[in-house]
Amino acid sequence: MTDKKAHLTVDGLNESIELPVYSGSVGPDVIDVRALTGKGFFTYDPGFVSTASCESKITYIDGDKGVLLHRGYPIEVLAEKSDYLETCYLLLHGELPNQKQYDEFVDVITHHTMVHESISRFFQGFHHNSHPMAIMCGVVGALSAFYHDSLDINNPQHRLISAHRLIAKMPTLAAMCYKHHIGQPFMYPKNDLSYSENFLHMMFGTPCEDPKVNPVLAKAMDRIFLLHADHEQNASTSTVRLAGSSGANPFACIAAGIATLWGPAHGGANEAVLDMLEEIGDVKNIDKFIAKAKDKNDPFRLMGFGHRVYKNFDPRAKVMKQTCDEVLAELGLEDDPLLKIAKRLEQIALEDDYFVQKKLYPNVDFYSGIIMKAIGIPTEMFTVIFATGRTVGWIAHWHEMISEGFKIGRPRQLYTGYTTRDFTARDKR
Ligand code: SDX
Repeated sequence: MTDKKAHLTVDGLNESIELPVYSGSVGPDVIDVRALTGKGFFTYDPGFVSTASCESKITYIDGDKGVLLHRGYPIEVLAEKSDYLETCYLLLHGELPNQKQYDEFVDVITHHTMVHESISRFFQGFHHNSHPMAIMCGVVGALSAFYHDSLDINNPQHRLISAHRLIAKMPTLAAMCYKHHIGQPFMYPKNDLSYSENFLHMMFGTPCEDPKVNPVLAKAMDRIFLLHADHEQNASTSTVRLAGSSGANPFACIAAGIATLWGPAHGGANEAVLDMLEEIGDVKNIDKFIAKAKDKNDPFRLMGFGHRVYKNFDPRAKVMKQTCDEVLAELGLEDDPLLKIAKRLEQIALEDDYFVQKKLYPNVDFYSGIIMKAIGIPTEMFTVIFATGRTVGWIAHWHEMISEGFKIGRPRQLYTGYTTRDFTARDKR
């Protein structure tokens, strides 16, 4: 914190209002506006475009420079040198693990991948064509029904075991959604597989045959989870923090985050990108869709483009594009028609004044869907994969908030409705 001050003058007020200004380790200073309530004012910031909701040490984003740091490590470096579970440890504990800490963490996650057998009966209540995100909202929230022994949010051990259970069980539940959708039996996790190998085994293995997971695809899956792990105070993470501020249990908070992520403006964009590319259908149709995206009267947006914070390339999109090339080459799909449309669309958009002036660049969702489709994951599962990767970010922010003390989140409003008025009897209306 610093002793810098902001001085607010308001027409009609005799004296200016002095507000503290705080500096972080990097990034914009913040103005502490809490004193305004006592002066009869609220701040007004629909969509929280200019609002810092909390102090955090987990992730830093510089949208203008296209920088993303997890506990100080650039995402490009983690994508190249680390793996998903090591990044989970980093996000949760603040430091990279040594070999002993890493092995212990992998072991504890590995031994929490199974879900209570009763949970498999939950799936019978959903139609086979239920959207898997609808199932995940329900089943993840219901996990709290099985862990009465560790829901005291003020107990650090309870917080840690809940974090481990959520990170470990999300791939199992995600794969169960897919198996239920296609009418195949659930596959149990195997403790001799890595986190991402295990997920692909539970997705594509069957009791009749369980081929060895392709290591290139497992690495790509691991990188997709890693690139989705955390992203500062995005909509779903802010939802998890707000839900957690009421004292709700971590499983309920993560279910709230899953519900928020589902929207096409947020995590649902990866599914929407594939739907859009399939609707474009051919490179020759791209100009028509670019025109629709620029038309103020047309609600259509170029899915996978633009970002509230990034006004430069999303660094995750660059790594995702490189992974996309690797996976399609491994599978002999370099000529994938959707990839051709995506690359041409990116090239045209990045040269078009509308996108250049509005600083609309490809985001994390633009290429991820092409990789997942190539791996054999159906489009409706894309946001479930995003939620699986993001669970560690959600729970790390929840853990940070609970550990460091919090108040219940309760924003105010600018009220423009009726002031007090008399009730008119119905026969007089
Ligand atoms: C994620 O917050 C995070 O960190 C999220 C995320 C994470 O990891 O958690 O990064 C994950 O959600 C990535 C974003 C995925 N969403 C999409 O790809 C959907 C398409 N993108 C847009 O809907 C939009 O860009 C948002 C929602 C991502 C950002 O919206 P903002 O910040 O509220 O910006 P805006 O809607 O005010 O747009 C600014 C201008 C507008 O034009 P004007 O009204 O100023 O004339 O840019 C235009 C918009 O119409 N615009 C687009 C566009 N995105 C913005 N025009 C066409 N196509 C687009 N994709």
